Amino acid sequence: MRKERASCPLRGVGGIGYNQNGNDRKEGISMTDVTSAVQIVMPQHCNGYQTPRLFGGQLMAWIDVVGAVAARRYAHCAVTTVCVDHLDFIAPAHLNDTVVQEARVTWAGRTSMEVRVDSFVEKLNGKREMVNRAYAVYVALDDEGQPSPVPPFTPETEEERQEYAAALERRKLRLAR
Ligand SMILES: CC(C)(COP(=O)(O)OP(=O)(O)OC[C@H]1O[C@@H](n2cnc3c(N)ncnc32)[C@H](O)[C@@H]1OP(=O)(O)O)[C@@H](O)C(=O)NCCC(=O)NCCS
Repeated sequence: MRKERASCPLRGVGGIGYNQNGNDRKEGISMTDVTSAVQIVMPQHCNGYQTPRLFGGQLMAWIDVVGAVAARRYAHCAVTTVCVDHLDFIAPAHLNDTVVQEARVTWAGRTSMEVRVDSFVEKLNGKREMVNRAYAVYVALDDEGQPSPVPPFTPETEEERQEYAAALERRKLRLAR
């Protein structure tokens, strides 16, 4: 039988978030808000090609960070990465490119959340080209480092409903492995 554990504080209600003190809630912050990150590709992030490209492992590390923050914001507690099983490198990023990342929760189960992370190269004129799309799963952890319940996820927009349905399929495949 599952042992009852201390759950994350202030959890369990959708569609709201913390105030600036981090210890109270205010209306109007969607739990499906986008979490963004921005990087400039520096020499230490690149492989040794004549035209240096962003090293894939570096992008994966950035994906994991922004994805984890999206999951933390959803769960309001620490999270750990359990799986990144879908990672498409669509186009390269090069030295001195601006990389913009957007992470959003697409599905939540009892203790786990799927997060989609889109990575773009942003040109100096502001135009963006997608270079990567990844889906990662995070598990919320209580103070003892054990899986802890997260709020239910209710998709609201058509895009969220489609992502949610696709996330259910991805979950089936993950758990069948
Ligand atoms: C993640 C971890 C806490 C899960 O522990 P566990 O004993 O397997 O816990 P559970 O069986 O209760 O699973 C917890 C959740 O993870 C999900 N899960 C477990 N393995 C999964 C996988 N391979 N893919 C997708 N989801 C998975 C379960 O379905 C469950 O989700 P739900 O509560 O929403 O239904 C544990 O496996 C762990 O600590 N792994 C190492 C994580 C890590 O170190 N990551 C890298 C550094 S951040």
